[in-house]
Amino acid sequence: MAKELVGPSDDIKSYGADYVYFCLKLKKLTGIDLSSYKPRQMHRRLENYRNRLGFTDFYAFSVAIQKDEGKLRALLDFITINVSEFFRNPEQWKVLKESVLPPILAYRRGKPVRIWSAGSSAGQEAYSLAITVLDAGGVPQVLGTDIDQASLEKARAGVYSKEEIKGLSRFYLAKYFEPHGDGYRVQDVLRRVVSFERRNLLTDEYPRDLDLAVCRNVLIYFTEQGKQRVLRGLAESLRPGGVLFTGATEPVFNPAAYGLTQIYPFFYQRS
Ligand SMILES: C[S@@+](CC[C@H](N)C(=O)[O-])C[C@H]1O[C@@H](n2cnc3c(N)ncnc32)[C@H](O)[C@@H]1O
Repeated sequence: MAKELVGPSDDIKSYGADYVYFCLKLKKLTGIDLSSYKPRQMHRRLENYRNRLGFTDFYAFSVAIQKDEGKLRALLDFITINVSEFFRNPEQWKVLKESVLPPILAYRRGKPVRIWSAGSSAGQEAYSLAITVLDAGGVPQVLGTDIDQASLEKARAGVYSKEEIKGLSRFYLAKYFEPHGDGYRVQDVLRRVVSFERRNLLTDEYPRDLDLAVCRNVLIYFTEQGKQRVLRGLAESLRPGGVLFTGATEPVFNPAAYGLTQIYPFFYQRS
């Protein structure tokens, strides 16, 4: 298993008492525990962000986010890095559609296919999953969860700009979306089968009996310990034979440790 380097800067305390105070304040205000995110990467980003706002230390920044709801929201948007796309990494979606999904549909035989988009950002992944299942003749039941409230609100609204729908084929756009202002909105046929809830992957309960758990471009931000905790939970959320789908840069190095077997690159089946 690949091990991360452990050095003094992997310990949050080595970044100074003001950063430790800031982390505690953030946890109290939002429930987000930065100690489960890669410390070096997170500290560097936050320090740049804080400097841009003109605060010279993390104490002053902590006071500002406690007083000013707008600043806190903007900070959360920044921390959670919620970039997403419809059908992100299309080659993986081809494997899903052609090889992974058919046995799942055969297993459910017309009953809802239970899918979880864990770290769903603004909904692009959850709607892509629903489209894939609908197009294959199945009945999707997709739950999208994220820690970031603003992303969840956008996901529920299902409204995307022209720039944001660039991963969608014209065919899908015409079939599942309708023009809305300068962009597009998901049609009811998608809205009916996709729902969104706020859940923290590091602390909240996971769904059960899933056919497909999708967690992509989320694990990369967590420490090795955080990643292991989430992988254990994802594996347990699957029914036997259910499949975990990870991001294009996030292979699971030791799937057997979680009771999983790799069936295709980035797809792991629960034994
Ligand atoms: C880069 S986006 C990935 C979106 C989508 N899965 C994709 O691959 O396009 C990462 C998402 O993980 C969410 N996230 C980060 N930490 C989380 C946590 N502890 N619990 C739940 N979601 C989290 C962020 O809010 C963000 O929306």
